[in-house]
Amino acid sequence: MQTELLREGQSRSSQARSPEERPRPERSRTDCPILLSPRLVLRAPHEDDIDALAHLANNANIATMVSRMPHPYTVADAADFVRRTKTGAIGKCVYAITKADNGAFLGCCGIEPHPDGRTAELGYWLGEPHWNNGYATEAAQALTDMAFRTRDIDQIDARCRVMNVASRRVIQKCGFQFQGSGMVDSLALGGTIAVEWYRLDRKTWMSLRSWGASR
Ligand SMILES: CC(C)(COP(=O)(O)OP(=O)(O)OC[C@H]1O[C@@H](n2cnc3c(N)ncnc32)[C@H](O)[C@@H]1OP(=O)(O)O)[C@@H](O)C(=O)NCCC(=O)NCCS
Repeated sequence: MQTELLREGQSRSSQARSPEERPRPERSRTDCPILLSPRLVLRAPHEDDIDALAHLANNANIATMVSRMPHPYTVADAADFVRRTKTGAIGKCVYAITKADNGAFLGCCGIEPHPDGRTAELGYWLGEPHWNNGYATEAAQALTDMAFRTRDIDQIDARCRVMNVASRRVIQKCGFQFQGSGMVDSLALGGTIAVEWYRLDRKTWMSLRSWGASR
């Protein structure tokens, strides 16, 4: 555990780490550029986010709505999360959602390619004090735009719990269309949860590029 809390460059040299553990060079995130939207900056999570991340993520109202967040959520979990985003172990493009005006950490989002090579999966969460300000929609739209503009993908998928009214609304505001229902694992609940599956295909995205049309 102590090792997990070490900051980059402390104690273990990168040569001593396995290739999987070794932080990827900066170029590894060139596919994940920093994203700017009217009120937000989406950037790579880093060590300075750990305290805010641990504070905001330690919330059952968040953990029970996403599939892979532990609950309770500790500072060690946050440090481990930041470390794994650097190695690419969590996903290729995990972002911290931050306020453009003061840099405050609000939550996280990410976009992950499917093995089929044609599809990416969108995910996000916001700290509860920041809900209902339109931030998740703004972040999801920025991520979606980036993914379609920079990648050779046909569609982006998003899933939300059937009971997750706010996330369903975010997905709908981004122009995704209902595809079906299913079950996914929930780490926090220790079982499976019913989810709805939505998809935004490239053609629909192109017709909504001004985004105003989808609201
Ligand atoms: C889902 C979540 C990311 C939404 O973040 P947010 O920044 O509040 O989202 P936005 O403000 O962009 O949009 C939320 C929409 O849901 C609506 N909404 C929120 N709670 C609602 C409720 N109980 N009933 C009806 N609508 C609701 C808001 O009114 C808003 O819609 P509007 O713009 O048409 O008014 C946030 O609630 C969250 O992090 N929840 C826990 C984790 C989670 O669910 N992640 C997504 C997993 S699929």
